[in-house]
Amino acid sequence: MRQNFRVLTLLAVSVCFALPRAQAQGRAVDAESHAWWQHAVFYELYPRSFADSNGDGIGDLKGIDSKLDYLKDLGVDAIWISPCYPSPQVDFGYDVSDYENIDPMYGSLKDFRHLAKDAKKHDIRIIMDFVLNHTSPQHKWFLDSASSRTSRHRDWYIWRDGKAPGVPPNNWISGFGGSAWQFDPKTGQYYYHFFAVGQPDLNWRNPAVEKAMFDVTRFWYKRGVSGFRLDAVDLLFEDPNLHDNPILDGKNDLGDPNMENKYNDKLPEVHTELKKLRKVADEHNAVLVGETYTSNREELKEYYGDHNDEIQMPMDFMFCEVNKLSPPDFRTQIANAESTGGWPVYVIGNHDMTRSYNRYGDGQHNDQIAKLMAGMYLTLRGTPIMYYGEELGMENNDPTRKEDVKDPIGIAGWPNEKGRDGERTPMQWNDSPNAGFSTATPWLPVPASYKTHNVATELQDPDSVLQFYRHLLALRHHEPALLEGDYIALNQDNPNVLSYLRRYKNEGILVVLNMSATTQHVTFDISAQGFASVKATALLTTSVPAPSGQLDQVALAPFSVYIARVSQ
Ligand code: GLC
Ligand code: CA
Repeated sequence: MRQNFRVLTLLAVSVCFALPRAQAQGRAVDAESHAWWQHAVFYELYPRSFADSNGDGIGDLKGIDSKLDYLKDLGVDAIWISPCYPSPQVDFGYDVSDYENIDPMYGSLKDFRHLAKDAKKHDIRIIMDFVLNHTSPQHKWFLDSASSRTSRHRDWYIWRDGKAPGVPPNNWISGFGGSAWQFDPKTGQYYYHFFAVGQPDLNWRNPAVEKAMFDVTRFWYKRGVSGFRLDAVDLLFEDPNLHDNPILDGKNDLGDPNMENKYNDKLPEVHTELKKLRKVADEHNAVLVGETYTSNREELKEYYGDHNDEIQMPMDFMFCEVNKLSPPDFRTQIANAESTGGWPVYVIGNHDMTRSYNRYGDGQHNDQIAKLMAGMYLTLRGTPIMYYGEELGMENNDPTRKEDVKDPIGIAGWPNEKGRDGERTPMQWNDSPNAGFSTATPWLPVPASYKTHNVATELQDPDSVLQFYRHLLALRHHEPALLEGDYIALNQDNPNVLSYLRRYKNEGILVVLNMSATTQHVTFDISAQGFASVKATALLTTSVPAPSGQLDQVALAPFSVYIARVSQ
């Protein structure tokens, strides 16, 4: 089962920073000194697949605009829109040819203005996706860069001579398969691309690149954007001496040798750059969300910055790489996230990984398990980022024939690696053809389960995954203990049930998650945490029958959630 496509490297990190309290981050907006994004629920939406307003089978900005009521009602406070800039769509928008415009297929800057205005009315913030590691070769900077060795923008990208005729500068492998170097006969040199050939890496060692890219963020801040999700941020810098990377045993799903990306991933310069980018963000009271693939807590900790001066919200992918319902594993990852000193950011899915519904589902209790997962990541201390359709129990719809594959990774890796199309299918709005996403045939097909798993049908069903999300998010927005309370792990040796207390001043909320297929009996003694009462009051549960509230005998149905208030 695919987790994420990036080959994770094991860069040893020896520096250990002491972080000040999370409260020092960002500008304070409440009595507890929390910034807006610490109380917000984020929602990633893939614009191609969210809602199609003009019947061409591809989602667009007007489509998003028309669904703001839905998002508000669901409990979303900020939307992260995956790239909607002009792009040849080699990597579906992650190959940007103009950072300061909207691709006509998604609309125009005018449509963006409308969307920003309407989102503001709904009190929903907009986070743009900032693809800062690379551009499209169609970007005017690259076109000029490739035009001659002496062009003004030559040094905006990474050009090098080959080692010998037909031999690339070093052994670096692209995340999309094959060498990371592309020979360009026109000027007789190779350019570096960590991702597709159609995604040349920018040279962040060049101050002109830095300035131009910081100006891009200013362009969008001026247009009302509240922050950026920083794409592939680990990869901003490369070793200037281009040392070969160490080769590891075996091959990856794309058939290339496994490699430790020692010289082109997570170089220390990334942190210097992030501090500067953060300064610009701070001038606009904006938040930076990081696509930060880390393999241990020290790496994650570094992304917050030694003075909380880098990324406010580095995503914790180690949490969602627990690909089984394992309370001990989740406990460990939550403890890790808690111990960084930063504000945790939890995700269970995105446009690069198999949907959580499939990753955690057992094929029989998938809806219960979808609620169970929500019961966990939406009640932890930190900021959650949802992925569109997760609230419906949307499932992956992987292609079954190579000729149907759209994602370049799936094309390169077929059949071992089917690519990411499956998790990017159209949002399921109702049970009409194409799930109400479009009047035309959508760019990717909807799975058969759209008949039952769609917004309209689920709104009618009090037991649906969607209704559970709505209730849970409402609770989360109103309970100070869920917004701000400490996380206290309980019953830490229980292998089947994950339990914790969120405690804020005198208030406590108990979260109990049965991750097993059998009924579980648990006992809680929270007197040491200052809660003497042996009775709890249920706030939300999926357990049938509902637990009695007696803390010395809580019985939980298989895969059920029990969230209750405890009092002193
Ligand atoms: C990030 C994106 C992914 C994209 C890659 C290259 O990992 O999430 O979808 O393919 O960067 O931009
Ligand atoms: Ca790079």
